[in-house]
Amino acid sequence: MGRDPRYDILFEPVQIGPVTAKNRFYQVPHCNGGGYRDPSAAAQMRRVKAEGGWGVIFTEQTEMHHSSEIAPYIELRLWDDEDVPILAKMAEAAHEQGALAGTELTYAGVNGPNLYSREIPLAPTAMPIRTYTSDPVSARAMTKKDIRDLRRWHRNACLRAKSADYDLICLYAAHGHGVFQHFLSTATNHRSDEYGGSLENRARLMREVIEECRDAVGDRCGITLRLSLIETIGELGFSNSEVRDLIEMHAELPDLWDLAHGTWADCSGPSRFKEEAAQQDLVEGIKKLTPKPVVGVGRFTSPDVMVKQVKSGILDFIGAARPSIADPFIPLKIDEGRIEDIRECIGCNICISGDMTMSISRCTQNPTFMEEWRKGWHPEEFDVKGESDSVLVVGAGPAGLEAARVLGERGYQVVLADARTEIGGRVTRERKLPGLSAWGRVADYREYQLSQMPNVDIYLDNELTAEDILDFGFEHAVLATGSSWRADGVSRYHVAALPNDGSLPVYTPDDLMDGRLPDGRVVIYDDDHYYMGGVLAELLAEAGREVTLLTPSAHVSAWTNNTLEQASIHARLLELGVEIRLNHALGRIEGGQPFGQCVFSGAELAHSADAVLMVASRVGNDALWRTLVAREHEWAERGIRSIKLIGDAEAPAPIAWATYAGHRYARELDGPDIGDALPFRREVTQLKND
Ligand SMILES: Cc1cc2nc3c(=O)[nH]c(=O)nc-3n(C[C@H](O)[C@H](O)[C@H](O)COP(=O)(O)O)c2cc1C
Ligand code: SF4
Repeated sequence: MGRDPRYDILFEPVQIGPVTAKNRFYQVPHCNGGGYRDPSAAAQMRRVKAEGGWGVIFTEQTEMHHSSEIAPYIELRLWDDEDVPILAKMAEAAHEQGALAGTELTYAGVNGPNLYSREIPLAPTAMPIRTYTSDPVSARAMTKKDIRDLRRWHRNACLRAKSADYDLICLYAAHGHGVFQHFLSTATNHRSDEYGGSLENRARLMREVIEECRDAVGDRCGITLRLSLIETIGELGFSNSEVRDLIEMHAELPDLWDLAHGTWADCSGPSRFKEEAAQQDLVEGIKKLTPKPVVGVGRFTSPDVMVKQVKSGILDFIGAARPSIADPFIPLKIDEGRIEDIRECIGCNICISGDMTMSISRCTQNPTFMEEWRKGWHPEEFDVKGESDSVLVVGAGPAGLEAARVLGERGYQVVLADARTEIGGRVTRERKLPGLSAWGRVADYREYQLSQMPNVDIYLDNELTAEDILDFGFEHAVLATGSSWRADGVSRYHVAALPNDGSLPVYTPDDLMDGRLPDGRVVIYDDDHYYMGGVLAELLAEAGREVTLLTPSAHVSAWTNNTLEQASIHARLLELGVEIRLNHALGRIEGGQPFGQCVFSGAELAHSADAVLMVASRVGNDALWRTLVAREHEWAERGIRSIKLIGDAEAPAPIAWATYAGHRYARELDGPDIGDALPFRREVTQLKND
């Protein structure tokens, strides 16, 4: 099947300064938690995207000088020539399939604490560093000499980027992360010289640097500017109309305008709070202000929405970070008329958590992300099956679905069985919760893929016993039987059941997802710290319950700081009138009252409640597996070679862990036994001789 002519416009070449992108698919800069520590893993990830048809492929933000760095976060560096080979490897990966390679030069200014380099941070105006961790460090105001130095450093960094064979060099003035934004904004620029005051003055550094960069490398490289569309940091931050003035005043300055929302949390808004194309109102009309091409973002996964953006004159390029992570092959799939095969991003921001935790990024939808080099996993290619033929997958949640899909791709005979009447396990239940409907794509994508595979049969409403499994005649069985929320309060604060005299009804998230809602006043105890406590507070408040949320943490849904959702969740709960009590555990339930307990002083506070909702922790549903293990001596005589437990059933975790577990099981079936060897490749720092 070929391309639908409606989408032809997405495949038109577009010029950016001295270079031309082969189509309108533009992978905007995104980090990956690997950066300079895992350069080959990152390069291979970009290579796969180039293979998937993206016309432009950017690196993540690249620290362009050692005097401004954002340790402990792991991005790329282009501090001096020693960094060039790493950058060159990524450019080469993009070029292999005809994509333009771009790098985003970042001078972090007031956003760079310099914890590693120990240099004094430089910013337009002296002020405390503005980071997620509020590092106790200040920047000093740049002198005129510092500004001259900064201009020279940019020119030199551009020359290094050119020597690494980059086609596009982006200057970062967005998300509060780049010095050009700090100069542009009256919030961070209080200068009274020619670099402060009027918009023209505040834009002076940007103008000088772009002109000097073009002078240095403009014969071969396009110079682009990544600009926040609005700052969203209060009155002093710049507004969308000021951004429009800026663009009009400098219409021809960069070779392309790369437009992104305010803070990073605004721009990479999760699906819980932001729809596809959420930035449209802020971008619309900007193209009329400039003859240069415009790229914008908005979690674009639908080709129809993409076409509309171009045809209605809003964007020239379809910018994408997360959609390109969830499915690096979107352009090729559109080109080949395989729209149903697009693996749509669910907007969960787990990919961002890899960067925020300085580990390595994962993707819920695409378990091969950042494993392309480490494990040799390709998102669209699979080894043909090994010596065995048949596999029974028990449980059609994220782990079971992904295992069945990849086993099916490899050519095994697969039966997927689930006790419930619907496919999808936890995502089918959770997608009905407030804001989580897009998460259902985890099931939808896989359900469609499995429906196309003649070698995979699905049996729902089919609760298998150990005897059934032993009798089935399959060579392998994999149990992805999910997990259950516990009602006894055991989690981090209480490692044994919390004291409870049974005087109040206690609910779990499973009860609510099964449609059993408590009445009246509900105390939610959240010692899980991810999204569930906040989501259920929202559900109950919207259902008219009086809700108090207790958490031993200093933040509501604390782990969502890593998915950039925490502030939106807290704000939403305030809007809904949820009473929030931080740094308080649920100490005990007695005499019809839940007693909160201050985690610092131990002081107790009695609450009035009709019910308690325990969002504490989950236990794996592994009873079936344990029964089968107890009968291991029978496996061989019944033709069974292996029975494995995976996903939440083995160890409960976010959905991304489950799809990864399913994928890994299916990839490794019939593979060699590697014993104690490391199951992935890595790069180790080279020692210098002196
Ligand atoms: C994992 C991740 C890392 C990101 N890192 C960067 C970065 O280094 N530089 C940058 O300008 N934007 C970064 N972004 C923001 C994206 O470029 C993009 O503007 C935003 O995610 C919205 O686009 P999307 O909806 O297509 O994801 C990152 C986004 C993600 C998801
Ligand atoms: S981790 Fe979630 S938000 Fe990020 S790309 Fe994957 S599906 Fe999208």
